[in-house]
Amino acid sequence: MVLSPRFKALATSLVLASSVWGQTGLAPKKFLSLPLGQVRSAGWLTDQLTIQINGLAGHEHEFYHYVSQSDWTGGSSAYSNLEEAGSYWFNAMIPSAVLLNHTVINQKTQDFLDYVLSHQDSTGWLGPEVGTTKPRYLWGRYPFFFGTIQMVENNPALTDRVVTALHKFVALANTMLKNNQGVEPWTATRWEDFVITLQWLYDFHPNGNEAILIDTMKRLKWTGVPWEQVFNPQFFPTKAVDNTPNPFPALTWHGVNMAEGLKALPATYRFTHNQSDIDAASKGWDLLFQYHGRPSGIYAADEYLAGLEAIRGTELCLVVANLKLCTPKETMFSGSYLYQVIGDPKFADRVERITYNALPATLTGDMWTRQYLQQQNQIAAKNMSPNPFPNDGAYSNVFGLEPNYPCCTVNHPQGWPKFVSNAFLTTPDQKSLVHLYLGPFSTSTTLASGNKVTSNVDTLYPFSDTLTTTITATAAFTYYVRIPSWVVGGTIAINGAAAKAVTPSNGLQAVQVAAGTTKFVLNLPAPITTESRPHGSIAVHRGPLHYAFDIPRSQKVLTRNAQESRAVDLEFDATASWQYAIDPATLKFVNKPPASGKLPSPVFDAGQPPVSITVTSCPINWSTAGDTFAAAPPTNPACTGSQRTITLSPFGATKLRIGEFPSFKST
Ligand SMILES: *[C@@H]1O[C@H](CO)[C@@H](O)[C@H](O)[C@H]1NC(C)=O
Ligand SMILES: *[C@@H]1O[C@H](CO)[C@@H](O)[C@H](O)[C@H]1NC(C)=O
Ligand SMILES: *[C@@H]1O[C@H](CO)[C@@H](O)[C@H](O)[C@H]1NC(C)=O
Repeated sequence: MVLSPRFKALATSLVLASSVWGQTGLAPKKFLSLPLGQVRSAGWLTDQLTIQINGLAGHEHEFYHYVSQSDWTGGSSAYSNLEEAGSYWFNAMIPSAVLLNHTVINQKTQDFLDYVLSHQDSTGWLGPEVGTTKPRYLWGRYPFFFGTIQMVENNPALTDRVVTALHKFVALANTMLKNNQGVEPWTATRWEDFVITLQWLYDFHPNGNEAILIDTMKRLKWTGVPWEQVFNPQFFPTKAVDNTPNPFPALTWHGVNMAEGLKALPATYRFTHNQSDIDAASKGWDLLFQYHGRPSGIYAADEYLAGLEAIRGTELCLVVANLKLCTPKETMFSGSYLYQVIGDPKFADRVERITYNALPATLTGDMWTRQYLQQQNQIAAKNMSPNPFPNDGAYSNVFGLEPNYPCCTVNHPQGWPKFVSNAFLTTPDQKSLVHLYLGPFSTSTTLASGNKVTSNVDTLYPFSDTLTTTITATAAFTYYVRIPSWVVGGTIAINGAAAKAVTPSNGLQAVQVAAGTTKFVLNLPAPITTESRPHGSIAVHRGPLHYAFDIPRSQKVLTRNAQESRAVDLEFDATASWQYAIDPATLKFVNKPPASGKLPSPVFDAGQPPVSITVTSCPINWSTAGDTFAAAPPTNPACTGSQRTITLSPFGATKLRIGEFPSFKST
């Protein structure tokens, strides 16, 4: 069996684990990710990455003070974490630039890496504290480590330099932890990110340091937050935590930390081998969404867990999962990791929902502005008075350069590219390729026994139910593709044969692929469904997309950056009524595929997606609270005017919206 160097290292470390360390080694993952660059976007997803790099993400290094140096020498800023901002920028921009072959940013990230590595001090420390008297806390470098892993995987020539520097840092960190140094509340909360880096070293480049790597993982866990207790149903908060005393350190109920903490338990499992860590991770995931979840896929935490009410906020970093103050992208990243360790398809279904709904909803179509907090029912994006967010500023839902906090400005670009690079996996024996997240992709890798395979997925998904996949392989193998849980009546047609019903097992459809070229067409329809929300309201879904009423809006420029005129802060106000009840019995799916076969660009903007849902509605009395946000949806409201048909749009394309409606019975 011929293994690629990466997998050879894994196989060696597993042997070492069982022969030397036995149960004290690392438990294997259920699925393995592919090195950055082997999974690439295609079609509309490439367009989405391109919009992002042509927007704020790809230009902020030119003017935005937190990251406008190409090195870490910028000195202390008011935010006191050039290290944090730089570290996040690095982690996010590596996959952004690699997936688009972006020469300028690839060079910037290389410069960043070179600078940091060449300034490692004699003790092994990495970061802007070198040569200063700044206190040395471990966590600011964790996103930097994630960045270095991606760079090495994409460019193996960097391996020795990076791995040597990391092992040197690990030895120092281990000594610091033994001496009770280096841990402040953020390090205590985010220890799992370092553990994941240590596990990468253990799996692929242990260099004889297995014992200290495992010892450091354990020390990080025992000096850190006890996530298995935080996610224990006995302590888990079942409503907004505004006035609830927290038995654990306050930061544990912070939304982004929870998004990161979700990967602490599977990471712990790998060195404890204790099934209870897996069970707690899975249960914690369910509790989080049961009590704080949103129809957009994400959960609510305007800093701290915020319950189910539709006006409470969700931080952008929570979505993408990795900044001091940012949630959807952190959750996407954690969900990908949970799937790789545990293999339960519920994690993948939710990551896909978050990516195609909550993430684009919180950025303008051109990706030059982003919010700090998004709302499920959002009737204005402006300076709010009174402010519905107990722990965030009145400016939090403005679309701009750095509303409320700067963190999401540097962290948000990791969301789309990491979704792409985690979209394909392999089975642990590397004999099979697994297509996990559905969308347009182009993947090329070498499986076990030197089986060179490519997979090209041609689709407008999630704006279409049809995916055409073309696979080439030098030898026969079993290919897997995820069939989401919402699919009803899905079919597969292989090599032009008649379509047959899909038969997934644990969410995966097996396809037997012969040497040469194999082509199959999936048709994955889904019924329209409604979800019960507070106050008797309902939310509408079809397949991966959540649908909302897109409130017509006016736009006002609040500020414009002096150096970069495209970096603006925008206020949005409703220009039409949004107070409607809808009749769920009348929901009707409308699909107008683009004649050109190509989606408009950007697709996540008003009126752009080719799919929509119509519904019979009637106007109702629905009050505002302090002019800027909607009161809770009224329960069983009376119609105040005649019935009319309104159109619901994919949530990600709406910037002002109603996503949770009162319902009524039409006549
Ligand atoms: C980037 O380069 C790779 C390798 O040459 C190629 O397969 C890919 O299509 C390129 N991507 C873009 C967006 O140009
Ligand atoms: C597994 O974890 C549970 C819960 O933390 C603990 O009670 C149990 O003792 C652990 N089992 C082992 C073998 O360490
Ligand atoms: C709606 O509000 C208006 C103005 O406050 C009031 O006159 C009317 O009675 C209300 N209608 C219903 C059906 O509650």
